Amino acid sequence: MYKTQIIKSVQMTSQIMGQKRKLDAACFTIPDLNEHRNKYFLEPKYNLIILDGEKLISCLEIYEIETKWKDKTITIGGIGSVMTDSLYRNKGLAKDLLQKALEIMGKEKYDFSLLQTDVEKATHLYGSIGFIPMKKEYTFITKDGKLDRVKAKDTMILPLANPEVTADILNSAETLFVGNGSW
Ligand SMILES: CC(C)(COP(=O)(O)OP(=O)(O)OC[C@H]1O[C@@H](n2cnc3c(N)ncnc32)[C@H](O)[C@@H]1OP(=O)(O)O)[C@@H](O)C(=O)NCCC(=O)NCCS
Repeated sequence: MYKTQIIKSVQMTSQIMGQKRKLDAACFTIPDLNEHRNKYFLEPKYNLIILDGEKLISCLEIYEIETKWKDKTITIGGIGSVMTDSLYRNKGLAKDLLQKALEIMGKEKYDFSLLQTDVEKATHLYGSIGFIPMKKEYTFITKDGKLDRVKAKDTMILPLANPEVTADILNSAETLFVGNGSW
């Protein structure tokens, strides 16, 4: 079928970047672009893409986030911008990319993976590869230096190299702080 490509973000061509921007605009509604840029300014480490010929039809991003949990340094694999062209949906493309992302994050030995989504809508897709609703907010610092949060109803987590720390985060009253910027 279609071939999945794993591209380090520095290797993305301007042609693919342009297509990705267009797909993003078609898939997500951003009510306030300035507010969005103030929160989501990190660069992904990997872009996973699926092409139909030259056409970008599905993609996702992996972010490498280093932060602290209870004074220990941890590394989170952040998943972002999961999107499929509307003409190619419900064929399992996003799920294929998520499975590939799981392999990469495993090799990278990230402690766990974290994503932001509408959990109610997304439980089946992300749940099918092992994400569970985190039911807890996480916090980050915006570009203009303010503390912001991703709401508990929008967070999912997947244990990777460090199930203990994942369980501790889920069971603790403390909030996970992910550092500068969200994704
Ligand atoms: C979500 C999305 C990436 C799924 O892509 P896809 O290639 O069709 O996904 P798959 O074929 O692998 O899986 C389809 C599943 O995604 C689910 N899905 C649809 N819209 C969804 C959404 N907004 N968030 C999460 N899952 C969604 C479908 O219900 C289906 O689940 P099912 O297996 O229970 O039927 C695609 O619908 C899309 O681009 N939506 C707009 C952007 C978006 O909402 N992205 C998710 C942000 S976290």
